[in-house]
Amino acid sequence: MGEPNFADKTLWTGDNLDILRGMNSECVDLIYLDPPFNSNRTYEAPVGSRAAGAAFKDAWTLSDLDVAWMGLIADEHPALYSVIESAGLAHGKSMQSYLCMMAIRLLEMYRVLKETGSIYLHCDPTASHYLKALLDTIFGSDCFRSEIIWKRSSAHSDGRQGRKQHGRIHDSILFYTKSDRWTWNTVYTPYDSDYVERFYRHTEPETGRRYRLGDLTGPGGAAKGNPEYEVLGVTRHWRYSEERMAELIDMGRIIQSRPGSVPAYKRYLDEMPGVPLQDIWIDVRPIAAHAKERIGFPTQKPVALLERIITSSSDPGDLILDPFCGCATACVSAESLGRRWAGIDLSSKAADLVNIRLQETMGDLFHHGYVTARTDIPKRTDIEAPVHYRKNAHVLFGQQEGRCNGCRTEFPFRMFDVDHVIPVSRGGTDHPSNLQLLCAHCNRTKGNRPQEYLIARLVEQGLLSHTHASIQPFA
Ligand SMILES: C[S@@+](CC[C@H](N)C(=O)[O-])C[C@H]1O[C@@H](n2cnc3c(N)ncnc32)[C@H](O)[C@@H]1O
Ligand SMILES: [Zn+2]
Repeated sequence: MGEPNFADKTLWTGDNLDILRGMNSECVDLIYLDPPFNSNRTYEAPVGSRAAGAAFKDAWTLSDLDVAWMGLIADEHPALYSVIESAGLAHGKSMQSYLCMMAIRLLEMYRVLKETGSIYLHCDPTASHYLKALLDTIFGSDCFRSEIIWKRSSAHSDGRQGRKQHGRIHDSILFYTKSDRWTWNTVYTPYDSDYVERFYRHTEPETGRRYRLGDLTGPGGAAKGNPEYEVLGVTRHWRYSEERMAELIDMGRIIQSRPGSVPAYKRYLDEMPGVPLQDIWIDVRPIAAHAKERIGFPTQKPVALLERIITSSSDPGDLILDPFCGCATACVSAESLGRRWAGIDLSSKAADLVNIRLQETMGDLFHHGYVTARTDIPKRTDIEAPVHYRKNAHVLFGQQEGRCNGCRTEFPFRMFDVDHVIPVSRGGTDHPSNLQLLCAHCNRTKGNRPQEYLIARLVEQGLLSHTHASIQPFA
């Protein structure tokens, strides 16, 4: 398992792709993400353009970026490519572009998650079916655990009825684990009143405690090899040993409704844990207009929702990451549950809000410096660069079969430069998997920018066709 290369309680302002790329592998126990998913078709524009980075924001159109990302995905993850492409055919370009943005980030989230880790992707029916297909491809369909339906608002009559369709009042939260060994704590919810009325029919007059009667003759009294013996005048193969039955009688846990009737076990309602949490959540209320926790962030989620997720899928001391943290409900909840945490958001407003929020909810604890606010990309400490990166040139030349990894043209060895696929300034490392050979033209064009940029430019310049657009041909 990896060690995180960042401090507990870190809040980044920046694009989560860059920051995730700089994080050590397998160092996070639980990821909750609530990406933009709801707006009709423009969500990808700000995300995409910022993802490209301020330096070349203007030079890029969204489709350029997509071509480069699709190139990366096609080369290394063909199944993922097919999923995104089909979504594009079924739903349109905007969905394809949104899924590209998500896929490239989900791949990094998969990498930073520990073997025992879990991920919860909060979305709604606009894209949940496509996102599930992405997750099936990245995490494996056998690592799908549940789709939680969260009733996020009460019934509304906002004109949808006029549109002849059912009111849309739920979100979907897709829960996947990285392997078949994941952290799990069963969360219980109270029994509903119908269930209590039906099964806990008796009330103890002295205490008012509700209870139900349980059978003491089965299962398995005889099968366990318990001999027949007499309890309160009735002879049976009892479930427990004679000594244990005597103890239960002393404790007042065995009652007989009338002399001669079969004794039964008294099970109190207040001793039962409740119902294990199911996958439909209607008891976590949306944040009311005047709720104390409301901070004015448009897509703020209730703390109770996050507490439930964090309690189920992590232990105290575990590290929780929210890469689209908004006003950081996940971080605040993680803090109150004794977990370590980190959050990332594009907007610097998020960091400001969190500071205010943590001070409000946690008081003095959050004195200056308690939370680390960062904008720089972390530098990975879990991969060693055994040799100076330039020494890899011959190996790379062989791997690339003498072709430039940008324009794909063949050149003699001396014409190549060794380049970082993800620049060091953006969290890239000297590890051979992050190195490539570029011809002088490609190297100049790329400069100190990620490979996506180069590919998009080459396609634009007509030096590379869409179908050949690729970023990293080898692992
Ligand atoms: C739906 S909100 C999250 C709300 C959050 N769960 C809460 O309770 O406050 C989505 C957030 O993702 C952020 N975001 C969008 N694209 C991003 C990116 N590429 N990197 C980091 N944050 C991003 C937006 O600024 C927005 O705050
Ligand atoms: Zn080239």
